[in-house]
This record gives sequence, structure tokens and C-alpha cells, in this order.
Amino acid sequence: MTETMVWVDGRLVPSHLATVSALDRGLRSGEGVYETLRVREQRSFRLVAHLDRLQAGAGTLGIRVDPATIRAGIAAVVTANDHLGDDVVVRVTCTAGPMDLTTPFPGTGVGPPTVVITAQRTRAPGAPPRPPARGRLVDLRRELPMIKSTAYLLSLVAQREARAHGASDAILCDPAGRPLEAATANLAAVVDGRLVTAPVSAGILAGVTRTALCEVAAGCGLVVEERTLEREELLAAEEALLTSAVRGVQPLVSVDARAIGDGAAGPVTARLRATLDALIDATAEPLVLSRPADG
Ligand SMILES: Cc1ncc(COP(=O)(O)O)c(C=O)c1O
Repeated sequence: MTETMVWVDGRLVPSHLATVSALDRGLRSGEGVYETLRVREQRSFRLVAHLDRLQAGAGTLGIRVDPATIRAGIAAVVTANDHLGDDVVVRVTCTAGPMDLTTPFPGTGVGPPTVVITAQRTRAPGAPPRPPARGRLVDLRRELPMIKSTAYLLSLVAQREARAHGASDAILCDPAGRPLEAATANLAAVVDGRLVTAPVSAGILAGVTRTALCEVAAGCGLVVEERTLEREELLAAEEALLTSAVRGVQPLVSVDARAIGDGAAGPVTARLRATLDALIDATAEPLVLSRPADG
């Protein structure tokens, strides 16, 4: 079997040799950010938006990342792992680098940040398409929700609780118990023929796919309402859906074991999915920018 190659601080190495410092601040205190992108045939939808969000989140934590280097790293990882096929999920992780043990908490960084880029198959060969999502409301909130941080414990605990109750996805709520977003995806619902999704100011990640969904909604004849859904409103919605770079648009067919709509993927979700898939196909950005012709 061909070994997966991993990009670590500018070098491609076989995965069993891919290591970072034991003093890494990402390891010690979760000081890091990440991005997850889907790459098909060397192109990725809204690659620049993902790199911008990575850079902004890193900047908030005082981590300096160079988007051009990361872009080159993504291209290198995808090419080095062509045995995975032409539809892969790429994860970019940037942490604050090794800790200087001579300084008190929270310490200052020594040296450059740590950057790790990996690629994996989107779905195992021959695996059936991803089934619709089944949600479970979990009364937990992410810390600093606007940052796509590697401090992922809350999402993990929420997701385990959801799975233990037979659901596929935890749906995190605001302090008033209103559903905001899933542990790894944004949430939207069709209510009275409108597409309702929580505003970023409510404490959700500004999902790249969510932004694109709101853009295509008008073309699908839908008015977008950015406001927080009430719990009962979600349960009584005509349809509901989750979005992320990996899933695209995924129908959400039940919440807390109660069917949304008629408990199956609905026509509005199907239209949104088809429209977004077409946009992704038409506008996905190449990993490697072609150089202008000489002369
Ligand atoms: C908490 C959370 N919300 C939303 C998303 C979806 O964001 P995007 O569409 O940019 O992948 C993610 C993706 O991982 C996430 O972790």
C-alpha cells in the first residue's frame, strides 16, 4: 500500500515520520487554527476564502501564516497523494509553534508556527453516498466560535453525545437553548418558504459554504432571513439542512428523533444542493495559479 505523505513545516514526509515538537503550543493548550477543504481534480471551492479565514483566525491568536506558502503546501500534498484519487479532503493545521519554557503562562512563541497539511479520501472507495443527517440538540457552546480553532474538545464531546443517542450530528445551542449550528457544519431551515440561518453575530462559524448557500438561495426563489431559529421552529420547519466544505448541502431529516417535514430530503434542499454543486463545479479555484505567459 502506498504511504500517505504529510506536509510538515515546508517538507513532505511519509506519515509515519511526520512529527512536531513535544513543546508545541497547539499540543499544550490548543493554540492553533485549521481549515478543511475539499479538493477535486486539483481545484477547491473558495480556496481563497478558506485561506483568508485561516489567516484571520491565526492573526487573532498572534500566529503569522503565509497564505501563499499554505497554498503551495496544499498543492504539494494533493500531488504527492495522488494514489488517494482526485476527490480528497485536505486539512491545514497551524499552531503557535514550540513553547519557550522560560516564560510564564501564556508564554511567548519561539521560532515560526507549526504548519501541518494532510490529505485523506473524501469517501472510502465504493462507499455509499453520505446519508441525510439526524441531529441532536446539545446544550453546549463553542469557545470563540468565530475562530476555527484546534481546541475542539467541546465539539467532540457534543458529537459523542449525539452519536450515543443515535444521531449523526450534534446541534449546538445558544444560552437560551436556540439551535445555532452543528458541531462541524452550519445549519439552515426552510420556514414559511424562507431560508432561515443564524447570523454570524449569534456565535457561529462564518462557514464558507453557508455564505455560498445564502448567495444561491435567491436564484432558487428563496428569501434568506439571518436570524436565530427557535427550537420549536426548527422542529416544525418544512425542511432543514447542514452545510460544510466537505458535505456541501446535506439534508437534516430529524432532530431529537422528531422528523423534520416528512422526514426525508425535501425538494428545496435538493434544489439548493444542485445549484450549489453547479456553482462549485463552475468556480472551484485551481490550487496552482498559472503564471502569466512570458513576454
Ligand atoms: C463549527 C462549524 N461550523 C460550520 C462549519 C462549516 O464551515 P465551512 O462551510 O467553511 O466548511 C464548520 C466546518 O468545519 C464547523 O466546524
